[in-house]
Amino acid sequence: MSIVYLDGEYLPKDQARLSPDDRGFLLSDGVYEVTPFYEGVPFCLDRHLARLEKGLAWMRIPQPVAGLEQVNRRLIAENGLEGAETSLVYLQITRGAAPRTHYFPKEPVEPTVYAYAKAWDRPSLERWSQGFSVATVPDRRWSRVDVKTICLLPNVLAFQDAVDAGADDALLIRDGVAIEGAHMNFWGVFDGTVVTHPKTNHILPGITRGVVLELAAAESMSVEERPIQVEQLEAADELFFTGTTGEVRPIVRVDGTPVGDGGVGTITQRLSELFRARVQEVQDAAGAPVG
Ligand code: PDD
Repeated sequence: MSIVYLDGEYLPKDQARLSPDDRGFLLSDGVYEVTPFYEGVPFCLDRHLARLEKGLAWMRIPQPVAGLEQVNRRLIAENGLEGAETSLVYLQITRGAAPRTHYFPKEPVEPTVYAYAKAWDRPSLERWSQGFSVATVPDRRWSRVDVKTICLLPNVLAFQDAVDAGADDALLIRDGVAIEGAHMNFWGVFDGTVVTHPKTNHILPGITRGVVLELAAAESMSVEERPIQVEQLEAADELFFTGTTGEVRPIVRVDGTPVGDGGVGTITQRLSELFRARVQEVQDAAGAPVG
């Protein structure tokens, strides 16, 4: 039985109780974060908490993030995940429980803070090397997807459309632009230049995206932050996604059409290696077992 965190307590998951009046349940009135851990060492936890803090402030949910770092670390320990190659902590904060109104509760209520930890499986090298397929799906999300709210219905429907089409993932299309995935940021390589959508209100400012941009810059790669038009996709030499549970993930087919030569591209491969090396550096700095 996994141990979860709910409003100040660590308890077995089957003992965690939420009010049916919780505004997360009734109204999707909340934000979340997913932070990766490698052999028990958090990767960019400070950046994840900073993004969460920004989201809370924008949503006017009065919940400090101080203390949540400890919640993340303790959940990994409570669940015996220090040795897991890859694990994560999911953390969700809602405005709290109150009789349902479309406006904020008149009387102040305590936000609900819920978190759990679990291992996640990275695809095997063999699977990764085959690359992944995407289906293009209209982006039906709202205009503030830069805030990591729990309102994920359009993402869920898009991903299911992709699954129904036999693809591994969804690529969201907004106004003719291939904007991002249902749970990952989107990138292309055109004539040696690495391209990804600029940080706007139409994409989530991914933490992995930020790290990969830094790695590409440190490697003196040519990088442009600009939208990728759908009609440019067939001219791409490489396409890939980045995200917490995807790391650097090659895309080799879009709606059944091969990308470039149909294999995993060299720049995608290089960025993946650099990303893994960066993770290893963070582990080494934390004194974690090397391996
Ligand atoms: N998803 N874009 C979207 C729409 C996302 O939901 C995510 C993360 C990302 C990548 O962000 P990051 O690199 O910070 O993980 C991009 C999380 C993991 C999820 O919903 O489970």
